[in-house]
Amino acid sequence: MKKDLLSVYDLDPADFRVIFEKAARLKKMLKAGEYHAPLKGKTLGMIFDKSSTRTRISFEVGMFQLGGIALFLSSRDTQIGRGESIQDTARIMSRYLNAIMIRTYAQEAVEEFARYAAIPVINGLTDLLHPCQILSDLFTILEKKGAYEGLKIAYIGDGNNVANSWVNAAARLPIRLALACPEGYEPNAFIYERAAKAAKEGVFLHRDPADAVEQADVIYTDVWASMGQEAQKAKRADVFKPYQVNRELVARAKKDAIVMHCLPAHRGEEITADVLDGPQSVVIDQAENRLHVQKAILEILM
Ligand code: CP
Ligand code: NVA
Repeated sequence: MKKDLLSVYDLDPADFRVIFEKAARLKKMLKAGEYHAPLKGKTLGMIFDKSSTRTRISFEVGMFQLGGIALFLSSRDTQIGRGESIQDTARIMSRYLNAIMIRTYAQEAVEEFARYAAIPVINGLTDLLHPCQILSDLFTILEKKGAYEGLKIAYIGDGNNVANSWVNAAARLPIRLALACPEGYEPNAFIYERAAKAAKEGVFLHRDPADAVEQADVIYTDVWASMGQEAQKAKRADVFKPYQVNRELVARAKKDAIVMHCLPAHRGEEITADVLDGPQSVVIDQAENRLHVQKAILEILM
């Protein structure tokens, strides 16, 4: 049976291990200049309803490196943009392609697509979730810290798609997740409650970022206004001001804490330039790992 990657909640601890071991191997082979083309002759379709730099390039280059190709399908230029149903699109695309990656607004759309598709479907970000991001982030933590078990991750800012995926990860892995979000901007309530019951090391929601970063091994933030929330930008800038990741906040975490951001970042808003570009920041390695981890996902699913 075909397998999809729609949410990290669907993975068990062994799945994470398999992905990370393969990603490490693929990264090593690439750095050594070894050609490895298990997806020769295979095609990945990539549907984008929203902008992307990292996701698009890493999936496209990843497919090329694995011997296959990727098609960039902007919904504007396909019949999807003119209202062709998800059902028909998914069934037709399954006859041409070997897997599909979708970046769109509604999580339900990706789930519906997966129901009708006969090929693996990968969630490349929705309003609700960003599973490929969190898998790459965990892999980065593994590289930087040697393990993620028992570590404290402090997520500061908006309870958005990235935050929700972190909450899902905490439901599955022994990490301690402390979120600091303003009132009304918490992670999805269903996802949070589900994780609070399942989490091995715990999921905690704070109002004060200082409480969240105390003893943290990782400080993570994301934009205050996600794609699709542009109209709320000014209001959000006001609400989130106390949630900036700056030098004072970072100083409250463990001395060897790393700073992460899924990018794109807005220097001077959710994070200061000195922190984003400073010695504790791992954001560039983090972005690079999207490539290695997604190649592992592609090889496993295809
Ligand atoms: N982090 C991330 O998904 O970046 P893009 O929006 O550039 O793909
Ligand atoms: N939360 C951000 C993540 C971008 C990668 C957004 O959805 O715009």
